[in-house]
Amino acid sequence: MIVLGIETSCDETAIGLVTHKREILANVVLSQLEEHRPFGGVVPEIAARAHLDHIEGLVRRAMDEAGIGFEDLDAVAATAGPGLIGGVMVGTTTAKAIALVLGVPFVAVNHLEAHALTARLTDSIDFPFLVLLATGGHCQLLIADDVGAYQLLGTTLDDAVGEAFDKVAKMLGLGFPGGPEIERIAPDGDAARFAFPRPMTGRPDCDFSFSGLKTAVRHAVAALSDADLGHADVADVAASFQAAVGDVLVERCANAIDLFRERHADARTLVAAGGVTANRTVRRRLGELADRRGMRLVVPPPGLCTDNGVMIAWAGVERLQRGLTDELDFKARPRWPLDQRGVYANGAAGPT
Ligand code: KG4
Ligand code: ZN
Repeated sequence: MIVLGIETSCDETAIGLVTHKREILANVVLSQLEEHRPFGGVVPEIAARAHLDHIEGLVRRAMDEAGIGFEDLDAVAATAGPGLIGGVMVGTTTAKAIALVLGVPFVAVNHLEAHALTARLTDSIDFPFLVLLATGGHCQLLIADDVGAYQLLGTTLDDAVGEAFDKVAKMLGLGFPGGPEIERIAPDGDAARFAFPRPMTGRPDCDFSFSGLKTAVRHAVAALSDADLGHADVADVAASFQAAVGDVLVERCANAIDLFRERHADARTLVAAGGVTANRTVRRRLGELADRRGMRLVVPPPGLCTDNGVMIAWAGVERLQRGLTDELDFKARPRWPLDQRGVYANGAAGPT
């Protein structure tokens, strides 16, 4: 079984080809960084147009890379939400057109589910597992019971964790996206120089908040920058911020592990997914937590943590195997919570 996956929900136009035997036949990712860099963030209209400009050529490139023909495809999957709606429409429309012409099923994929299921592609883990989703738009802890079956344990009440990385990087005059920039410079810095807050820690729940941390960084930077920030200052802020994020993620995940164990006494797998889990400090800290708690941490390789088409193709495989295909009139969803019963905050990082 071969599935084509299309990802266009943010600023990457990405195509993946994956088999049910967990073979990655193609992984093509075109980042629109240069188009968005002057604005310091992703501009939805520019993103949608760029997806449209590139998608056809990228699909062809992926097919060439895999050395297969369209007649070899068993289904076409695309991110149908959550995400920037213009881009999602470009991806789903393309996928539907290919599926219609080939007479194969179309699979509408939830982008967050695709992040969560990537660990089943890379490490063939079983359900149930606990998953931390840490992306540019989300920060959530969920129990994954099965494909399409998630229990929300906690979510951010304000900013997503990746968004916090991006905003702090901007304050420091670093590039976009901020996460990799902070990670790059933090090793030069002193993580103990700034005692930034660890929001929500000490509470018995699994929710997150990053706006207070962001504000604390803003104040620290303002207090420093009578003159231009020097390299040492930037590195110290980056290191101190990254340490605070690590502490928050670890403490919140520890509570989630307790809840997970109450519901599934024998389950032992903690999955970390989403762009922020490409971060080596985050990976190390979560690994230490897992060791302390007798859990196994599974994190996909960094290139499959950030947005890619392989994860969409794999989610397509998982759904196709269960007969979960979709009609061609499936509407793109800017918001699409993984747990329909979950209680989410109203902010931008809420139920999308
Ligand atoms: O999962 P992703 O690629 O896209 C979304 O679904 O949002 O996540 C993007 C986010 C951005 O905020 C980016 O700054 C962050 O992930 N990110 C990182 C790293 N690489 C990407 N954050 C921290 N360290 C990294 N190495
Ligand atoms: Zn993503």
